[in-house]
Amino acid sequence: MAVNGFSLNGIELGVATAATQIEGGRVDSNWQHWADVPGNVADGSTPERAADHWNRVDQDLELLLDLNVKHYRMGLEWARIEPEPGVFSGPALDHYADELTELCASGIKPLVTLHHFNNPWWFEELGGFENPNAVTILTRYTRQVVERLGGLVDEWITINEPNVYATQGWYFGVWPPGKKSLKDTLKVMQTCIEAHVAMYNTIHSIQPDAKVGVAHHLRLFRPARKTNPLDWAGARAMAYLFQGALVKAMTLGEIRPPFKRNGIEPGQYADFHGVNYYTPNIVRGFTEEVAPNVAVNDLGWEIYPAGIAQICRRLDEIFPAPIYITENGTADAADAWRSRFLYDHLKALAESGLPVKRYYHWCFTDNWEWVEGEEPRFGLVELDYDTQERRVRDSGRFFADMSWKGEVTEEAYSRWVANSHYRKN
Ligand code: FCB
Repeated sequence: MAVNGFSLNGIELGVATAATQIEGGRVDSNWQHWADVPGNVADGSTPERAADHWNRVDQDLELLLDLNVKHYRMGLEWARIEPEPGVFSGPALDHYADELTELCASGIKPLVTLHHFNNPWWFEELGGFENPNAVTILTRYTRQVVERLGGLVDEWITINEPNVYATQGWYFGVWPPGKKSLKDTLKVMQTCIEAHVAMYNTIHSIQPDAKVGVAHHLRLFRPARKTNPLDWAGARAMAYLFQGALVKAMTLGEIRPPFKRNGIEPGQYADFHGVNYYTPNIVRGFTEEVAPNVAVNDLGWEIYPAGIAQICRRLDEIFPAPIYITENGTADAADAWRSRFLYDHLKALAESGLPVKRYYHWCFTDNWEWVEGEEPRFGLVELDYDTQERRVRDSGRFFADMSWKGEVTEEAYSRWVANSHYRKN
């Protein structure tokens, strides 16, 4: 008889969100301004609606309890907290403090992201991550937050996906601030390295025992033609520029070209490896493509579960530290294969023998997916944007069962996974 169940081997489950994607409300941020320009967001939606989480914290906490999660990764909306340069909003910080108090009282451990693609508009107008004082400004914000919320949180992510943030906004120009310059992209990455190190040190100066890391977006760059040296070279170069050099700089202060040392000493700047993993990249020469005849999600991203363990193995080789999967998930509006996706990725992790301690599923609920708007459905909880009604999807039930039991039972497999199948492109 085939054995389909497996133990999670101690991996604790949680769900992840980001402030701009779920809170709703009109906030004076880079994303509100960007989304207000017709044509910038696929369906014309803006973060103003989203999941109205700002007003529904209690209801959403009930849902988190329903999902049996032990961990919750949430973001802060910097524009709410610091609406003007150097002016910090007591009510905004109180709001987050209340939310964190409720989470802790419910036995759910928060992991808080300080920067998740979102800037106050005043910072954006000052040039944002290109401003020569960006690191000082980000550190000042970090200090205020950690001093106010540090009694409730001791696990932090400084910056979410610095590589995606820099390339989408400054190289491809499809996210704010909409620039297309390799030079500026590298400059922003350099700021991310320096800001992270400064934020890491600031948090530790206030909370010596805090656990601090970066949520890195990591991909597996694979050559399209296994025997073509050009494809191999392209894959190597892309992996180095998109993630390799950045990860080493932000984790160990190992600075390699094209980055500059700028006073950063070699050291340890991560207490865990944060991994956001979604999809591999297939490289032909110096261009990317999606392989034919592979499993894909609603956005056309290839689903490749083995990749998550391969990525983690590389991190473990750079530096052995606890691994937190800070995001992994899929756009599946029909909830047709999300359970299989969960099963396959968690199985790869649980059987890897690596020190994977946490898995935060992206996302808790459906949410505003940046320039893709409200269309993609990443939630374990389905959201009706018009009525703001929430409903736990079947994959959410499967997730809750795994989180409760610490394993996938045979029964859970036959109930939720056996009939869940990927769709090919
Ligand atoms: C990641 C982002 C997250 C979400 C998922 C789908 O790149 O960190 O905010 O948009 O992709």
